[in-house]
Amino acid sequence: MKRTKRILVLVVGGTVALLVAATAWFGWVMITAPIDTVGEVDFDRPLAIPPLADSTVDADGVRTFDLTMQRGTSDLGREAPTPTWGVNGDYLGPTVRATRGEQVRINVTNRLGESSTLHWHGMHLPAAMDGGPHQMVGDGETWSPSWEINQPAATLWYHPHPHGRTAEHVYRGVAGMFIIDDENEVDLPSEYGVDDVPVIVQDKLFDGSDLELSHGIFRSTGILGDHVLVNGTPGPYLEVTTERVRLRVLNGSNARIYNFVLSDGRPFHLVGTDGGLLPTSATMTNLEVSPGERAEIVVEMQPGDDVVLRSEQLVSKAGRLAGEKDRLDIMELRAAEELAESPELPETMAAAPDLADDDIATTRQFDLSGTRINGREMDMARIDHAVELDTTELWRVRNRDGNPHNFHVHDVQFQVRSYDGREPPPHLRGWKDTIWLPQGIEAELLLRFTDHADPDVPYMFHCHLLRHEDQGMMGQFVVVEPGDRAGEMPDSESHDHH
Ligand code: C2O
Ligand code: CU
Ligand code: CU
Repeated sequence: MKRTKRILVLVVGGTVALLVAATAWFGWVMITAPIDTVGEVDFDRPLAIPPLADSTVDADGVRTFDLTMQRGTSDLGREAPTPTWGVNGDYLGPTVRATRGEQVRINVTNRLGESSTLHWHGMHLPAAMDGGPHQMVGDGETWSPSWEINQPAATLWYHPHPHGRTAEHVYRGVAGMFIIDDENEVDLPSEYGVDDVPVIVQDKLFDGSDLELSHGIFRSTGILGDHVLVNGTPGPYLEVTTERVRLRVLNGSNARIYNFVLSDGRPFHLVGTDGGLLPTSATMTNLEVSPGERAEIVVEMQPGDDVVLRSEQLVSKAGRLAGEKDRLDIMELRAAEELAESPELPETMAAAPDLADDDIATTRQFDLSGTRINGREMDMARIDHAVELDTTELWRVRNRDGNPHNFHVHDVQFQVRSYDGREPPPHLRGWKDTIWLPQGIEAELLLRFTDHADPDVPYMFHCHLLRHEDQGMMGQFVVVEPGDRAGEMPDSESHDHH
């Protein structure tokens, strides 16, 4: 090669390499630049309150609900209406409410144009009624699970669970709250929509007026949004008319972990978590809540007061790609000039979890890394664990990764025996079904399996960051009679559509 030509090649090559590097660097910076919407959100829309689902009680005493998954469009504050999915409506669904001891039946009709399911997250019930990936409801079909409500008062929720498609179905808007009441009379704010308010928090990323659904190469955690909806309302405010307001906060987001604070730093009182009320309330100024978890908090207001529910930078290590440095304004609470009196917070609220003295029948280890649990990818045709009825087990769950994960178990609420080698902090002292696992954290969970043996239908356990779940960070267990074994799974290749 001639000398000038060689120089030319070098120069051009070097420029191209530089450009590629610069673009990659710019992309990286863009994608990892923290989102900060503090002070940027106009709270100009009244918070939507999901209606209570209608029900009828038939002659045999069964309380029956009708839920239809359907498509629609919603005003999410964009230029044009946003195509969304919902239940009995355009986005999200009604709040289902039932009392312990009741037999319920839910007619789930699918009008989405593709198969889906509805799963009752946090519910203790037979596996065949659970609405997991083995209970698919075809388009146009109705599925009618029925079970007896048998667990303490709690804030649960429902959402689709089709294997490999859960993230999209939830993100488009199919989800709702499921509130359980019980006989235990606790003096907490309890007027639905007035001083006892569902707060379903979901972050969204938009592409124009449409929901952004694609996963860029940097979005291994799932889609993190720069807009937050509460109950489907963008920029919401809540008119508070009482001295204390109880917020039933559900992190219904696909991937985002929130660190909830009140904007003026005032403390709030945590009264309940996933499985129900805490033994005693805990006062705190911030609380991290990962996808799928619930936190019932009571906020104290002064007449004429206003304060913003905000998510601050995470305290735990989640990683830059998981939005750990993001700050988001979520919802404004506006107190009226005169506030009706509210009950004082009760000293004790519910029985504490009581599994610590049980004999441990089996100990199991769950290592979470990448999108695998114990190195294995979810297989619909493989039962990972068979649990014996009427035993208590110890499950050790570990995040062995640079990514954030959490861990959710179907059917039972668990007791946290230890967290990061220590006694569980106040917010982990009640019954839980989902636990947040920042980088490197290990938790010990105690689980007691008391009912619903069925060797043939599995329950799921999984990371509730929905993209991880869809990519196979999930496993299956059955509950069997003592001495029994797991049944044969029907050979299911249908999940393999990646
Ligand atoms: Cu919220 Cu397996 O689900
Ligand atoms: Cu669940
Ligand atoms: Cu995960």
